[in-house]
Amino acid sequence: MKKISSLFAVLAVATGMSAQTHTFDINTAKVGGAIPSTMYGIFFEDINYAADGGLYGELVMNRSLEFPNHFAGWDISGKVTLKDDGPFNKNPHYVRLAPSGHSDKHTMIENRGFFGMGVKGGEEYRFSVWARVPDGGTAKIWIDLVDNATMTDDQKLGNAGIEVSGKEWKKYTAILKPKATFAKAHLRVWGDSKVTTDLEHVSLFPVDTYKGHENGMRKDLAESLEQLKPGIFRFPGGCIVEGTDLATRYQWKNSVGPVENRPLNENRWHYTFTSRYFPDYYQSYGLGFFEFFQLSEEIGAEPLPVLSVGLSCQFQNNIERGGLKEEDVHVPIDQLQPYIDDVIDLIDFANGDPAKNQWAKLRADMGHPAPFNLKYVGIGNEQWDYKDNPVFTKRLKIFLDAVRKVHPEIKYIGTTGPDSEGDKFDMLQPKMAELKVDLYDEHFYRNEEWFLKSGNRYDNYKRGKGAPKVFAGEYACHGRGKKWNHFNAALMEAAFMTDLERNADVVEMATYAPLFAHVEGWQWRPDAIWYDNLNKFNSCSYYVQQLYSLNKGTNMLSLTMNGKPVAGNADQDGLFASAVYDKNANEVIVKVINTGDEPQPVTLNLKGMKGSHAAQLITLHSDDLTAENTLEQPTKIVPKTSSLNVNAPSQDITVPARTFYIYRIKK
Ligand code: AHR
Repeated sequence: MKKISSLFAVLAVATGMSAQTHTFDINTAKVGGAIPSTMYGIFFEDINYAADGGLYGELVMNRSLEFPNHFAGWDISGKVTLKDDGPFNKNPHYVRLAPSGHSDKHTMIENRGFFGMGVKGGEEYRFSVWARVPDGGTAKIWIDLVDNATMTDDQKLGNAGIEVSGKEWKKYTAILKPKATFAKAHLRVWGDSKVTTDLEHVSLFPVDTYKGHENGMRKDLAESLEQLKPGIFRFPGGCIVEGTDLATRYQWKNSVGPVENRPLNENRWHYTFTSRYFPDYYQSYGLGFFEFFQLSEEIGAEPLPVLSVGLSCQFQNNIERGGLKEEDVHVPIDQLQPYIDDVIDLIDFANGDPAKNQWAKLRADMGHPAPFNLKYVGIGNEQWDYKDNPVFTKRLKIFLDAVRKVHPEIKYIGTTGPDSEGDKFDMLQPKMAELKVDLYDEHFYRNEEWFLKSGNRYDNYKRGKGAPKVFAGEYACHGRGKKWNHFNAALMEAAFMTDLERNADVVEMATYAPLFAHVEGWQWRPDAIWYDNLNKFNSCSYYVQQLYSLNKGTNMLSLTMNGKPVAGNADQDGLFASAVYDKNANEVIVKVINTGDEPQPVTLNLKGMKGSHAAQLITLHSDDLTAENTLEQPTKIVPKTSSLNVNAPSQDITVPARTFYIYRIKK
């Protein structure tokens, strides 16, 4: 038999016979369960300068002079001193500019921004500062946006002046309009030559932020999020949630209220990898929980906050390694209440009645009296239990019992730890069901082989009563030896995502991770969206996410080959496929991914349809598997759409090698 088949293979090559045609049986007559609106979403963490220096529009780094090195990011010249009795109790430092004492000398501070400041010629930038004249009277300060890198007669790109008066701290603003575009501008503030002036919270934002908010988001990056049409928006991470130690965990209460009084937090990605070390990377909390809820609403995503479960990062504080005691690195069991309160108060901040709750009142005071309609909360990030000590699940149980009493209306999300399988996963998955979490969060950064063999991952997951739903909360294909955003990695993700779609009754949400990366400041790759100070590009993986999101349909449809799901199985020649129905557009949507090196002939057998149907074919393809989009070639690999007619019930197609195809067929 073996001999006959190899003889057949030789003959097939010799005679140019094509590969065997595969028949996909798509039952369009029987519409299946609903695809959750939350299915495809975004994961945000301040890694790779994603918030400060990225999505958050602020151009000044260390604006409140609270970095441990108080003048980090600043150059100073003349009589400049640091003071620490400022008007904001959580940010007490400010700078005093004294007259230089000679008319030809000057007192000046200059901020270098995040890898410089990207400014666009002709656009407006809002400078603001808290200031006073400590001796009384009036002072004039000058503000210059400068290009001091290019050989030019006049470094000034734009400038403005402000009169500061009185001994009281007040906020002053001015608009700067640079005459040219420059990616590496600096901001200079000159002191008055005769009068001492105090400055605090020196800030510069583009006026044209996303939706025009003053404490707003960089527009082009927020638009990339909006164009994903995400169903869910997870924030603020990731490991950031836990902190390297408890003191540096993300504390949401510090991220709300007036920006000038939000305390600085360290950012663990500053030092996590010594090979990508960024000593000036801190969290200003300028993009805090209010901004997160507001942005979720504006891009149409359900907000999904994740909070600490009272465990500092277990990678860094693994008590099984010895040398660390549980109570030293994690919150003692009898002291969890403030952490539990953080969950309850956050739900009240998002949804509560301002007349009845202080956190809801704060939300209203910040400009959003209406509730944000929060439905999901994650508790813990990548946690696990030790062999003889269930550090995580014993805490999670206490949390769940307490928060459910106050807010039973919320869906709570647990976790199966950092691995997609193995000891931790096997131990935690049943425990999540025992604890009756509504969903659990799975993470998998894996190579090509893993993605190719995981096309049936969710087919046999328990579903129905008592079984938690899945949140595939962090995943990406990390190519073996090729850890960047090349086309093949995106193709692997597209193939795997057919499994999410086919199992939409058990997978409620999925978020590719991480989301953002500054080309000069990344610590982790691949990532969905890349940028420098002026420009951005969406990676191939971004387009895969977008294609699934925009073509997620409303209901599952059965698609099989010889009675089995098409999931890259042994006899399926590297093909992956799934189908959905979009009841609003009345369209059948078929996704087919050919991960192999040969074109594959396929017959689409559309049971329940007849005749010729108008259709669209969307293609994502690159001949070069290692190719990627870049700042120089941002649209090198993007989806292309063409129109055609599809015959029903039977249409022959050929899926080219290494290609992601989506058919949208009018029913
Ligand atoms: O996405 C980067 C990191 O990967 C996240 O912070 C963490 O949850 C995971 O290990």
